[in-house]
Amino acid sequence: MNSLPTNKLFTNPNDFPDVDVYAVVGNPIAHSKSPAIHEQLAEQAQQKMHYGRIQAELGDFAKAAQSFFDAGGKGLNVTVPFKLDAQVFAGVLTPRAQLAGAVNTLYIQDGSIFGDNTDGAGLVRDLLAQGIPIQGARILLLGAGGAARGVLGPLLEQSPEQLIITNRSNEKAVELVQLFGDLAKNRSVNLASITFNDLEDPEKASPPFDLVINATAAGLTDQSPLSAAAAHHIFNPSSFAYDMVYGKTTAFMQQALQRGARVSDGLGMLVEQAADAFLIWRGADLSQMIDPRLILTQLRS
Ligand code: ATR
Repeated sequence: MNSLPTNKLFTNPNDFPDVDVYAVVGNPIAHSKSPAIHEQLAEQAQQKMHYGRIQAELGDFAKAAQSFFDAGGKGLNVTVPFKLDAQVFAGVLTPRAQLAGAVNTLYIQDGSIFGDNTDGAGLVRDLLAQGIPIQGARILLLGAGGAARGVLGPLLEQSPEQLIITNRSNEKAVELVQLFGDLAKNRSVNLASITFNDLEDPEKASPPFDLVINATAAGLTDQSPLSAAAAHHIFNPSSFAYDMVYGKTTAFMQQALQRGARVSDGLGMLVEQAADAFLIWRGADLSQMIDPRLILTQLRS
């Protein structure tokens, strides 16, 4: 007897007996762009597969993911609010998932469910594709939640000159500096935190920054985490402001534009993290066949 959920937002691998089946799990999930992105990746790499979506109820992630894998599903992407549940669910964590403290990609290997995290690699690849150098850059990272932690490792591995973390609740920024202290030291990065208040003081914040990344959830509510006073000196025309939120010019991006800085939303990061997950599932040798930047251009048109 098949006891899998039958609602429209549960992709049942049994419904696609001839192909490998993948899905993205989140809540809400109806408007996720991931199925469209993976459909294009599969087309580019000539892979026969199906990629659907699953809406899990809060607290029910493990049940939904287990049902999917039990029914023969090959891999899952995981989005808000389940990346921590996915980390707990995974039997084995890759080093970068461990460092990120979260999992956005699950796959089966040798009978175990592996958890990986491709978010940080996706951000780095999107920045580099946009011509934004990270090596030697002076970076300000806004936020110290899951999104910020997820990208810290890959950013530090690119050896910026300096990476300053700031967060509304300062103690979380201080914790992240401690957690990533060894990696920063290995890469000779000056890693430090600064309070929101001190960010307004040019003496303490030593602005402007080459790259300012908004990893807070403030963009979702049309607020900027930066006060007007802080934004005034943090950006100059050679700064690049990156908001992980996509689909709109956020208040944070507007502040940067007013100071003459260049801006980007996070759509490229979404596409690049998807491409990375796709290669994990289908084989790294397909990297020559896929073109994530073309998919990004199509999504923006
Ligand atoms: P996520 O996984 O998206 O990072 P999270 O772990 O809940 O979600 O973290 C949300 C982040 O956005 C935190 O850094 C949070 O700051 P606090 O730690 O002080 O809560 C930040 N954030 C959310 N709303 C914000 C706002 N209006 N202004 C500034 N920071 C905000």
